[in-house]
Amino acid sequence: MDSGLVMVDTHILESTRIPLDEAIGMRWSPKGFLDIPVEPEKLRSLFEAARWSPSSRNEQPWRFIVETKSHPEGYERLFSTLTESNKSWACQAPLLIAGFAKKHFDRDNMPNRTAMYDTGGAVANLTVQAVSLGLQVHQMGGYDMRLLKELYNVPEEFEPAAILAVGYADEGGRSSRVRLRRELNTMVYEGVWGRASELLHSKL
Ligand SMILES: Cc1cc2nc3c(=O)[nH]c(=O)nc-3n(C[C@H](O)[C@H](O)[C@H](O)COP(=O)(O)O)c2cc1C
Repeated sequence: MDSGLVMVDTHILESTRIPLDEAIGMRWSPKGFLDIPVEPEKLRSLFEAARWSPSSRNEQPWRFIVETKSHPEGYERLFSTLTESNKSWACQAPLLIAGFAKKHFDRDNMPNRTAMYDTGGAVANLTVQAVSLGLQVHQMGGYDMRLLKELYNVPEEFEPAAILAVGYADEGGRSSRVRLRRELNTMVYEGVWGRASELLHSKL
């Protein structure tokens, strides 16, 4: 059976016939970063991008902890929560960011079932902003959540979402130009579940 996966060139702008915003097309998850700090104004711009994200009831449930190599003790604290395999490459990133989602609404303390969704959207905006500033972001789910909450005294109300490695990508360290992506006709349906939308004519 067709897996729906296709090989796409690393620089997807070169290989797709469907126009994309440049920052989306140039985004990738590097495992190598240059030894260059992220400028403070760029750092602020990343969080400003997250700040303007949409959220259910405008709750803005996301929170972030940021650590840079310029404060080695703090950097080491956040770094220590990563899995060994993530540590092996993320040590090159000048900046680490942990994202959290608040599980209940401020106004009535009811469960916010889109808190993690909204936080993911904010991280997506942060990531695209990073690319437009020449940076790249590699998101990680591989870390010790319990240790993260313990080390930073995170209130029970907040759930870790991801840790992000941020910096200027080492393009030379790119191991492969091949990436796997689902074809649009395996993810966009019309009329009934599973029937590819007629609006999609070309294969990516
Ligand atoms: C929530 C989330 C968790 C991820 N966790 C890890 C991780 O722990 N380690 C890792 O090397 N990559 C991780 N990734 C990166 C994905 O593997 C990567 O985004 C995917 O392979 C697609 O590659 P691309 O981002 O270069 O397009 C994660 C990505 C997301 C969104």
